[in-house]
Amino acid sequence: MKILLLGNGGREHALCDALARSAQKPDIFNFATAINPGIAPLVREIKIGDICNPVQVTTFAKIIQPDFAVIGPENPLATGVTDELKKIGIPCFAPSKAGAQLESSKSFTRNLLKKYYIDASPDFEVFETKESEERKKFFDSHKGQIVVKADGLIGGKGVLVAGDHFSEFEQAESFARQSIGKFGRVVLEEKLVGEEFSLISLVDGETVLDTPAIQDHKRAFENDTGPNTGGMGCVSDEHHSLPFLSEKEKQQAHQITVQVMKALEQELGEKYVGVMYGGFMVTRKGVKLIEYNARFGDPEALNILPILKTDFVDVCQKAIQGKLSEIGALEFEPQATVVKYLCPEGYPTNPVKEKPVTGPLRSENPNARIFFASVAEESGQLILKGSRAIGVVGLGTNLEEANRNCESEIQKFSGPLFYRKDIGTAPLIQQRIAHMVQIRSN
Ligand code: AMP
Ligand code: GLY
Repeated sequence: MKILLLGNGGREHALCDALARSAQKPDIFNFATAINPGIAPLVREIKIGDICNPVQVTTFAKIIQPDFAVIGPENPLATGVTDELKKIGIPCFAPSKAGAQLESSKSFTRNLLKKYYIDASPDFEVFETKESEERKKFFDSHKGQIVVKADGLIGGKGVLVAGDHFSEFEQAESFARQSIGKFGRVVLEEKLVGEEFSLISLVDGETVLDTPAIQDHKRAFENDTGPNTGGMGCVSDEHHSLPFLSEKEKQQAHQITVQVMKALEQELGEKYVGVMYGGFMVTRKGVKLIEYNARFGDPEALNILPILKTDFVDVCQKAIQGKLSEIGALEFEPQATVVKYLCPEGYPTNPVKEKPVTGPLRSENPNARIFFASVAEESGQLILKGSRAIGVVGLGTNLEEANRNCESEIQKFSGPLFYRKDIGTAPLIQQRIAHMVQIRSN
């Protein structure tokens, strides 16, 4: 069994680890932008290249002839790497370029929900014209409480939220025009209020298998302050849910994903295979869809994959064959998980780079895991490369224990690093619960 894995971040280290644990003992080949020191010992070969370039990827794939490919990040999906691999007979646990519009185009997804009567969107409008009049009307009718979304992938910087990023119409309008200039369109939405959660599902076009519900923490600094990041850390409790989320709300999110998967097939004439990562918000009016991603979350993958008991290679194969229903449901260890990313000082605006950090390559604690992201191993030393560096996972019978295990593992690292100590702590979790109580009572 040969598997081609694309990408080399923390998420891909976790994916590689889950594939390597399989009873099928696959030979894994990694096509990557750089060598990940956690992936290196798990794979047969690493080929460095441009993961978004279909010619480079297929050239390598033709040589190794993998049984299938797993694509970690979103960018190669949007450049059609899946489609080109399929053309040379290599199936992918990943959607086609058309399917990946679910993430790469906010207007595609909002219009899809509207066309197929899936009631999960906030009030929204798509604009293509440079004239600002209609956008001003939208802004005014929502008293400025809107969100502006660029209609393409710009590395987590494509969304501006009223209150966080702008207050005046002109600020929102300037970003809207940039998006129209670059992508031909912009989406304006009503700003929702509530608590966000991620529900990542593995799908084959027919069956939707959920992984645990997770909450990410996007702001760089404690108490949810500072600039937005790719995600500083994530939590999920021992019930594979979140303390503020009801089972019914989790089911509502699941049902939205089932409907969207079916709508995608009707719209595109092909089944969507791979990951449907729903970013949802529990609001006063129930569960709403914030956005979909067409791949695993990073760091969410670090919560999910270490506790996945079902053989991940089997899951990928069954998804590719359209036989996910044979799996029934994914099995997970009954454990809470707390993940925190160690980041270089100054991240995300002005991160230190090329500085050494010290710490273990693997955890000795069975209730902790270490995943490498933006770090390289040079002359036996770990060197910071400027983005989120090391993802540390704590497992436990509850969030408190998981957080303790995460913290004690973090103490083994030193260097110019910082992380959000508040993630997974009782005060922050209580704050989320209190916020939901307040929203539900309004
Ligand atoms: P990104 O992951 O960069 O696309 O950022 C999306 C973030 O913007 C989400 O995690 C939310 O926090 C926020 N967001 C997006 N859409 C809305 C909305 N309609 N209402 C409130 N917040 C939103
Ligand atoms: N953790 C957010 C993301 O992967 O998009």
